[in-house]
Amino acid sequence: MAASEGPFFWLGNETLKVPTALFALNRTRLCDRLRAKSDVQRKSIVLLQGGEQTNRYCTDTGVLFRQESYFHWAFGVTEADCYGAIEVDTGDAILFIPRLPESYAVWMGTIYPPEFFKKKYAVAEVRYTDEISTVLASKNPSVLLTLRGVNTDSGSVTREASFEGISQFTVNNTILHPEIVECRVIKTDMELEVLRYANKISSEAHKEVMKAIKPGMKEYELESLFQHYCYTRGGMRHVFYTCICGSGNNSSVLHYGHAGAPNDKTVEDGDMCLFDMGGEYHCYGADITCSFPANRKFTADQRAIYEAVLKSSRAVMQAVKAGVSWPDMHRLADRVNLQELKKIGILQGSVDDMVKVHLGAVFMPHGLGHFLGIDVHDVGGYPEGVERIDLPALRSLRTARVLEQGMVLTIEPGIYFIDHLLDQALVDPVQACFINNSVLSRFRRFGGVRIEDDIVVTASGMELLTCVPRTVEEIEAFMAEAQGGTKSFDSSSSQK
Ligand code: GLY
Ligand code: MN
Ligand code: MN
Repeated sequence: MAASEGPFFWLGNETLKVPTALFALNRTRLCDRLRAKSDVQRKSIVLLQGGEQTNRYCTDTGVLFRQESYFHWAFGVTEADCYGAIEVDTGDAILFIPRLPESYAVWMGTIYPPEFFKKKYAVAEVRYTDEISTVLASKNPSVLLTLRGVNTDSGSVTREASFEGISQFTVNNTILHPEIVECRVIKTDMELEVLRYANKISSEAHKEVMKAIKPGMKEYELESLFQHYCYTRGGMRHVFYTCICGSGNNSSVLHYGHAGAPNDKTVEDGDMCLFDMGGEYHCYGADITCSFPANRKFTADQRAIYEAVLKSSRAVMQAVKAGVSWPDMHRLADRVNLQELKKIGILQGSVDDMVKVHLGAVFMPHGLGHFLGIDVHDVGGYPEGVERIDLPALRSLRTARVLEQGMVLTIEPGIYFIDHLLDQALVDPVQACFINNSVLSRFRRFGGVRIEDDIVVTASGMELLTCVPRTVEEIEAFMAEAQGGTKSFDSSSSQK
């Protein structure tokens, strides 16, 4: 039996064993929640549809499959084209797998029987997808609970399960979504173990990049190095999101690295680099940004901006705990940014007055951070009753919730010099009066700095998952050592 076929997902070597019990517990938690609801009748069945194998446009070239996130959360199944049912009263799970054609055995490999998947995924029953209708009818459900709801980051609606014969059942598509979303927001200890692992490997991969970087390299060489480390050492076949490898002014492009700007600039001596990259293991991932000078030594201006952002990050880390409001954490980081920009001389005047005219959003137009889990911008940011704050930058926050123990978030303050936003601010008298343009001019084409760490909220504070050199001294020492220097980075010194 191959390594990944036991009662856990495992890719051998030093990779993490993820127990199937993680997904059984997720299902139990979901059923417990649903049973506690007065509008959920007895004999309800949850029905989820897994992700589909697709091809590249009209061709027969398969796109590398990645499981749909809700289905993964509930079943941990790696194969495409499945369905899963959960009997809410008992918690029993039925996995429906596709009945594969004989040609599969020739082109794709062994066709395993249902018994194989029953053992692999530790579910009560495995049947074929062409049996869904008859199997579910035999259970005589009062209602099928299907998943329909809006992803508050993308605005897209989930794909609701559908199969031939569904019209003979009573279907409710409104109850399930908010309940499963809430379950996903609070991570279990087993989920945290996977997130810790994704962070550990991704942190190490960032450090490999910092060791290897040299002016003259292409940004994509560093992207490639990150991916290679994550895959070869961590078993991470997928990255969690497109790698952002911005050098020089590209470090101010928030989502640089896309097809129109594909990490293809040559890294220059004197560039500030901003590398935002995370690996994904069994669909749980990391979202980490490291900012550092390409030539391993901060200039005075680079140090000033970097230390301003680090101060924001550390202020939030000191304040964060269960019970605090996430928008308040954003406001805290924003205020520290403004105070530090004033010390540097880019801004002048009263910080309170700068806050009133939302000057911080000129330098940090994005939100402080977001939930993280099976999706990089994980679900649950705006449940019913939590409203988006319609103000600059705050409206970009992916959650405005009060924090709870077991939530996992990124803390990712930044300061960027984005011409478009600076030019707008300079022609707006209410903002321009705070800007010392002669000092600011020095920072045009500087790019930006973001420091992004992943954390777990605890009752009294937080657990830091990310472990990379963070202070200027740590970064310079680490990068010097990689070039044959003597100082080392003590990972414990960056922990809170
Ligand atoms: N890497 C995307 C983000 O930081 O949210
Ligand atoms: Mn990121
Ligand atoms: Mn992020």
